[in-house]
Amino acid sequence: MPIFNFRDENALGKVASVGTTNVIVEVNNITHLKRLQVNHLAVLQSSRPGQHLIGLITQVTRKRGVEDLTNDGINDQNSELNLCRISLIGTMLDRDGANENVFRRTLESVPEIDANCFSLEGENLTGFMRTLSSVSADGNALTLGKYTLDENAVAYLNGNKFFQRHAFIGGSTGSGKSWTTAKIIEQMSRLSTANAIVFDLHGEYAPLTEPGIQHFKVAGPADVEAKRTISDNVLYLPYWLLSYEALVSMFVDRSDQNAPNQAMIMAREINHAKRKYLEDSGQQDLLKHFTVDSPVPFDLHFLMERLNSINVEMIPGARGEKQGDFFGKLARMISRLENKISDRRLGFIFSGGGDILDFDWLEKFVSSVLGSTDENGKAGMSQGKASRIDKGKFEDLINLAKIARYADFQLGIAIVQPAISKAKMSDDQLTVIGASAAYIDEISGVKLRVIINK
Ligand SMILES: Nc1ncnc2c1ncn2[C@@H]1O[C@H](COP(=O)(O)OP(=O)(O)OP(=O)(O)O)[C@@H](O)[C@H]1O
Ligand SMILES: [Mg+2]
Repeated sequence: MPIFNFRDENALGKVASVGTTNVIVEVNNITHLKRLQVNHLAVLQSSRPGQHLIGLITQVTRKRGVEDLTNDGINDQNSELNLCRISLIGTMLDRDGANENVFRRTLESVPEIDANCFSLEGENLTGFMRTLSSVSADGNALTLGKYTLDENAVAYLNGNKFFQRHAFIGGSTGSGKSWTTAKIIEQMSRLSTANAIVFDLHGEYAPLTEPGIQHFKVAGPADVEAKRTISDNVLYLPYWLLSYEALVSMFVDRSDQNAPNQAMIMAREINHAKRKYLEDSGQQDLLKHFTVDSPVPFDLHFLMERLNSINVEMIPGARGEKQGDFFGKLARMISRLENKISDRRLGFIFSGGGDILDFDWLEKFVSSVLGSTDENGKAGMSQGKASRIDKGKFEDLINLAKIARYADFQLGIAIVQPAISKAKMSDDQLTVIGASAAYIDEISGVKLRVIINK
């Protein structure tokens, strides 16, 4: 259905002059003229059926006729010339191929003299803006508010475009950026499948309390002391999540002449501490795959004890005991480590709430921060039920997810379609399968297998 619905009697006026990009419209009704504002939108009838031209009002003038002036305004007759200049910006097509209501930023025709001109407001404006952002009229449309152009026109946001790309909300101080953001967050929280993480550095969005919104804070010294955990909505970023590179840059001073030795010992001993953790917690299957970078918890005190003992190690020599290879060489790294560990400001990394050394802490953390309330625990199955194609149980998926953190996977894709036979395969079917196979190969390097009847 075309979005524009104009009736001739509601026209502002008629086109009096047409230029290459400007059109001048004569407005007969003075009340219409007074309502017009520059920068508002207007619609002009096009010379082609099924098309309307869209323009921006750039100037509104009211001129009194010469007789009026000479008669000192006593003349009652309407001899005014009221004009409105419109700059054309594009064309609205009722239909373009299979698509309805398409806006093009080109002028495919110009209006004819005496063509009607309408002001774009109310439902017509809402419909037009909706077309611009390609938001469908039904479903979960996100709304931003009303246009200042017209208080009755709703401003929509196309969620598919907005969330899948980079976006920028700009404006001068006090123009409403924070409010717009809050409005978007609020509506997004009601969508069952949309997840978002908001880094709220100034605590601006703390008052938002929709059911789908959860507030977390990074642990401060008081949270560490009270042993608050993720179940109290307090976040830690434990040291054991840091990669080897990050740990080395934090603790090893590159200008220290012992830096290479320190980095080497660090890798060896973290590996050792992680291995001990996995052995102690009975995670035999992971022992084969983990590396120094795997997100495996380890005991910081155990690591410190090891480093301290390596730093003072004495070994048997030819004439009694002598200093070990790394004797005294770790001293500076150890003191840096001790400083960081005891720094209360870094409690969220090194002190941890009661449970950050639990093996399933990471899982809890990830599902709190990334999981959506609706999807949690359902493993992506609709209504929690497995379809004819889904195989395995939810627990299997959790296990796979655990192992996937440590192991490499090989992905294979196969189409199993016994209803098709090789002998009766049509060209169209072959084309679809061939194109899919080529595409999958191109984007992932995976060779598609097709299993059908002989
Ligand atoms: N859509 C709106 N309708 C009416 N008033 C609004 C709207 N959006 C914001 N305001 C008002 O404008 C004020 C400033 O808005 P907001 O704090 O969102 O601006 P901002 O662009 O984030 O400013 P800053 O750059 O200072 O952070 C708000 O206190 C609110 O009263
Ligand atoms: Mg702001």
